[in-house]
Amino acid sequence: MTGRVTVVGSVNADTSLRLAALPKPGETVLAREAAGSLGGKGANQAVAAARAGARVRMVGAVGRDDGAPLAGALAAEDVDTALLTRSERPSGRALVLLDDAGENSIIVVPGANAALDDDAVRRACADLSPGDVLVLQHEIPAATSRLAAATASAAGAAVIWNAAPAPVRAADLVEHVDLLVVNEHELGAVARLLGLEPAGAEADVAAVAARLGTDVVCTLGAAGALVYRSGAHVRVAAPVVTAVDTTAAGDTFVGYLAASWHLPLSEAVRRAAQAGALAVTRHGAAPSIPTRAEVEHGLA
Ligand code: ADP
Ligand code: NA
Repeated sequence: MTGRVTVVGSVNADTSLRLAALPKPGETVLAREAAGSLGGKGANQAVAAARAGARVRMVGAVGRDDGAPLAGALAAEDVDTALLTRSERPSGRALVLLDDAGENSIIVVPGANAALDDDAVRRACADLSPGDVLVLQHEIPAATSRLAAATASAAGAAVIWNAAPAPVRAADLVEHVDLLVVNEHELGAVARLLGLEPAGAEADVAAVAARLGTDVVCTLGAAGALVYRSGAHVRVAAPVVTAVDTTAAGDTFVGYLAASWHLPLSEAVRRAAQAGALAVTRHGAAPSIPTRAEVEHGLA
């Protein structure tokens, strides 16, 4: 059975602009098209876990005045939004610029994500049971993530911490984590914050795992993922695809991994890698996340 997944994290209104080349300082450029969609690492991961077939609850904050469409978009994905609170601040926003060479620049305005309701977080996490999974990222205050991890862990749930975007201060590190998921850049950042000298992904996952007392999965883009569990490395390949937009590949990976927690870790990572690879073949964040049927078709 696929487990129950609780995401405590960010919800954004994304605006994606497609343009020939990213603007340089002082330059004005025309975009060919602007598209709005649900985004934010938390919301993307919640949608991915729901499309993977898990029962999912989103804990976060959106604006009182502008949050209804975001809550509606999550609910349309069968994500439980009862603990998505309404803030005086406007909803978080992200402006995603994507050029014809596939390069992107992203500007995030945290808005309501900068102040989650700690009571809602505590209630959601205290209510978890063994077999349930809590998923955290890095677009909400670190203190809130730490509160969520400690509460969920005490309740017996598994905690997956996706340290993205890369943590910058030691106070950003989360304890009570069962599985750390990072890309290579984030792995280096976590290693440095732990006082370790980065020495390549293989050595770093082992060193970080030992220091944090967690398992570690490092995503490697087209090269798939590196799993470190119980002192052993396992490499999981990603299928060969034509990448058009890597937005949300990492979020898709994490959401599928959380929804597959009941499986052996390397099998869960294989599903996650397949899902991430499909996400890069399509534009956008949440809209590019594949369904379970698409992922299973790819794995067959
Ligand atoms: P992030 O977007 O967080 O940096 P990655 O780029 O490592 O994360 O992508 C996450 C996962 O998505 C990878 O582990 C892989 O499974 C899949 N993926 C990403 N880019 C590609 C690609 N070009 N080809 C195939 N799979 C990819
Ligand atoms: Na995408």
